[in-house]
Amino acid sequence: MTETAPRKRLYIKTYGCQMNVYDSERMADVLAPLGYDVTDTPEGADLVVLNTCHIREKATEKVYSELGKIRELRDAKAEAGDGVMTIAVAGCVAQAEGAEIMRRQPAVDLVVGPQAYHQLPELIARAHRAKGERLAADFAAHDKFDALPAARNPGGVTAFLTVQEGCDKFCTFCVVPYTRGAEWSRPVDQILAEARGLADQGVREVTLLGQNVNAYSGEGGLAGLVRRLAEIPGLDRIRYTTSHPRDMDEALIAAHAELPELMPYLHLPVQSGSDKILKAMNRAHTADSYLKLIETIRAARPDIALSGDFIVGFPGERDADFEATLQLVREVGYASAFSFKYSRRPGTPAAAMPGQVAEAVKDERLARLNALLDEQQVAFNQSQVGRVLPVLFEKPGRHPGQLSGRSPYLQAVHATGPDHLIGQIVPVRIESAAKMSLAGALELESA
Ligand code: 5AD
Ligand code: SF4
Repeated sequence: MTETAPRKRLYIKTYGCQMNVYDSERMADVLAPLGYDVTDTPEGADLVVLNTCHIREKATEKVYSELGKIRELRDAKAEAGDGVMTIAVAGCVAQAEGAEIMRRQPAVDLVVGPQAYHQLPELIARAHRAKGERLAADFAAHDKFDALPAARNPGGVTAFLTVQEGCDKFCTFCVVPYTRGAEWSRPVDQILAEARGLADQGVREVTLLGQNVNAYSGEGGLAGLVRRLAEIPGLDRIRYTTSHPRDMDEALIAAHAELPELMPYLHLPVQSGSDKILKAMNRAHTADSYLKLIETIRAARPDIALSGDFIVGFPGERDADFEATLQLVREVGYASAFSFKYSRRPGTPAAAMPGQVAEAVKDERLARLNALLDEQQVAFNQSQVGRVLPVLFEKPGRHPGQLSGRSPYLQAVHATGPDHLIGQIVPVRIESAAKMSLAGALELESA
């Protein structure tokens, strides 16, 4: 082929977790050879992909309201004689609701689940060829990583790398075991090859992704994988998310004690501090076993920053159960956290449980929990003031002359400095701290 295809505009909107962010980048990669360039506005785009999230009702509803807006843009494009806008729905809503999406929003041309992104070029071509034919991709198999191009990250300092997908834990509130399927791990060699490619492009930090990343079952488990990754020249920081307390094994904890490349930050959701609720959630841990685990992890890596997920208003949660959650939070001391009101997901066991909690009670509990978690986050950030932290600068800051990066504890750090420090790990003396970020000054003789 000598002719160059006319460039087309691709708009991808990503909802939900970091795995979707990674998947959206892979979709852009697989579509680039077909002439699609990513744009950051949907107006006039030739292809719009919504990469959706199904975890809570609100996330799902957002997709339908966005589709309504996209449909108007599609009609405007057609009226202007500017060609066809193809609309695709990807991600977990696609997986969970499939054909229902096409029924609710007739403008949707194709629906594709997380395991079928490598089929996107074919699906789009078929949708174009058979005008009016609307397509739903096959939702099985794990050949997508073999078929998708490896992650590229031109110019990027940090990158996500999916190593595991799916979940076999079946927490009773959660749709993930249904939308993302069974736990499955990518082979070590495939991951190492992708990581080497990223390091060659200048990536200094990778975050390993998986719905149950620490259940990684490739050879050597997650600890073995992290050790291999730490040997890659240039790759100086390794993170992973999200972990389940049940899979936090000795080898991984030892890796935190021994590997300087493994960052001292751990997202370890507990969901609740009440054993009664944890049991009803099918979490397979108690408040006490979680606290003991935290103690072991802190013994291995005393400065580790902890993060968690919490759900308030799970069915049957009484005041005393909620107080137990607050108590657990006080005992752990989190550096950051995410808390949610329980959202009733059709098809999950908890949706049918008695004792559904009133919305007003959920609101009130969420506000109290957030107030405590915010207080802890500010306290953690303030505890860094006066320290010198190694900061990996990622990009220019908001103000001219400013750089923006991350501390080992995943805090955003701003400092004044020259652009050539982007991509470097530089000592920064922390001078002030707010809830969302730290500010400091370079500790360099000559910057
Ligand atoms: N309602 C509220 N929060 C939920 N999560 C998962 N399912 C639900 C639900 N039905 C939260 C959990 C999980 C995070 C990713 O989302 O806290 O760890
Ligand atoms: Fe959902 Fe529980 Fe699996 Fe996490 S461990 S994805 S909360 S079922």
